[in-house]
Amino acid sequence: MISIIFFFSSLNTAADCSQENVTVLDQNLQVLGVLCPNSPRIDVFETPGSAYLRVSTNSDALVRTVYLMYYSFAPGNEAAVCGGQINGYSGSISSPNYPSRHPHFAYCVWHLETPKNTKIDLSFTEIFLEVDAVCRFDFIALYDGPTTNSPILDVLCGRTVAELETTSNTLTVVLSTDYANSYYGFNLNYVALPENNSSSLFCSGEKMTVIFDPSYINSLGYNANELTLIDTSCGPVSSNPIAFNVPYTSCGTVRKVEDHVISYTNIITAISTGVITRRKKIEFVMTCELDNESIVEIMYVTENDIIQESQETGKYDVSLSFYQTQDFTTPVLESPYYIELNNTLFLQATLKTQDPGLTLFTESCFASSKSNFSDPTYSLLQNG
Ligand SMILES: *[C@@H]1O[C@H](CO)[C@@H](O)[C@H](O)[C@H]1NC(C)=O
Ligand SMILES: *[C@@H]1O[C@H](CO)[C@@H](O)[C@H](O)[C@H]1NC(C)=O
Ligand SMILES: *[C@@H]1O[C@H](CO)[C@@H](O)[C@H](O)[C@H]1NC(C)=O
Ligand SMILES: *[C@@H]1O[C@H](CO)[C@@H](O)[C@H](O)[C@H]1NC(C)=O
Ligand SMILES: *[C@@H]1O[C@H](CO)[C@@H](O)[C@H](O)[C@H]1NC(C)=O
Ligand SMILES: *[C@@H]1O[C@H](CO)[C@@H](O)[C@H](O)[C@H]1NC(C)=O
Repeated sequence: MISIIFFFSSLNTAADCSQENVTVLDQNLQVLGVLCPNSPRIDVFETPGSAYLRVSTNSDALVRTVYLMYYSFAPGNEAAVCGGQINGYSGSISSPNYPSRHPHFAYCVWHLETPKNTKIDLSFTEIFLEVDAVCRFDFIALYDGPTTNSPILDVLCGRTVAELETTSNTLTVVLSTDYANSYYGFNLNYVALPENNSSSLFCSGEKMTVIFDPSYINSLGYNANELTLIDTSCGPVSSNPIAFNVPYTSCGTVRKVEDHVISYTNIITAISTGVITRRKKIEFVMTCELDNESIVEIMYVTENDIIQESQETGKYDVSLSFYQTQDFTTPVLESPYYIELNNTLFLQATLKTQDPGLTLFTESCFASSKSNFSDPTYSLLQNG
């Protein structure tokens, strides 16, 4: 695996991309990406095997500069380097060895994911990297999404601190360092906050996840320790943010079946632990409705019996995967998955739920040679 990172480029900004660019090609000469004169500064390209760069300029006489760094990893060794997938409500990320000096030639990519319907609040407690006006040598790049192809939020280096916020529940952080001037690196703290409101509800097939902005609960005169579910032994799993995992089958969750709809409801109430009496009475009523096609998320907030409602929709958490043999032990990981004609395909559908009253039923199944399932399609199963 090779990773190529463009640290910095100054191409002819008077030229457009069709005249002047650096094109990155993989070993089969397929285009991996193009660095344009006015494109975002940090581009990361990853490819197995070798890579080629094709530099094109127009005839304007001026100096162009491109700084790039490449890293190559032995197969299977990519994960040993640093970075990785991080899931959770809150936590911190720091450079390797922090607060001691970071290694030379560090290349780390962290993929951070918080619960759906949240955004990520970041605050750096320290950044101590090589100083450069345009961060050419050692830097942190932050992307507003799941990969380095997402829009860039910021590029940081030198001695500074920063606070940032993503637009959704994913963030990618890249640390790249060169061969000289190694300092302490960086440390950041992150916390998931409700995306649009002071609270957010997410219904999966297994549980409800509720997140409150702690300052919102504080503004109502309460704190995390005073909140419980219907079963008062169930409290929040985190206090910053205030997060509840509400199981469908315990903690007092009420299950109701009507027509095609199963609903699960629980209530978060504030219990007064002190002697202060003039606080608003607060209840958060959360309902996840699972009908035959989708999940509907409903959350009511009652403040002194005034109801505010928010409603969101989701999907059942059903996963599908191919298996190599009929004993369904070894899933197929490659994609696309090629199979000879007239062989058997083994496909497993899984419904992720804790509710023993739900089962998965295959109603129809069809095949198409087009990825958009346009005609012709071939029916494999109909009406179950
Ligand atoms: C990059 O420049 C070359 C040479 O001018 C041009 O043929 C190519 O189309 C350009 N690529 C893009 C994406 O504009
Ligand atoms: C939050 O607001 C954005 C923009 O208005 C919208 O696209 C998104 O769906 C909203 N998220 C939720 C959880 O309501
Ligand atoms: C909360 O979010 C929902 C869905 O995005 C929106 O309809 C509602 O107006 C928001 N409420 C407040 C108080 O911002
Ligand atoms: C789900 O239920 C509704 C109401 O009965 C029905 O109209 C709809 O066709 C059903 N959808 C599926 C996929 O069964
Ligand atoms: C697959 O099976 C069909 C029907 O038995 C036969 O006509 C066809 O030639 C076979 N195709 C291949 C590639 O073996
Ligand atoms: C589906 O994809 C095919 C090409 O793969 C295209 O010809 C067709 O117009 C597409 N149909 C729709 C409805 O997008």
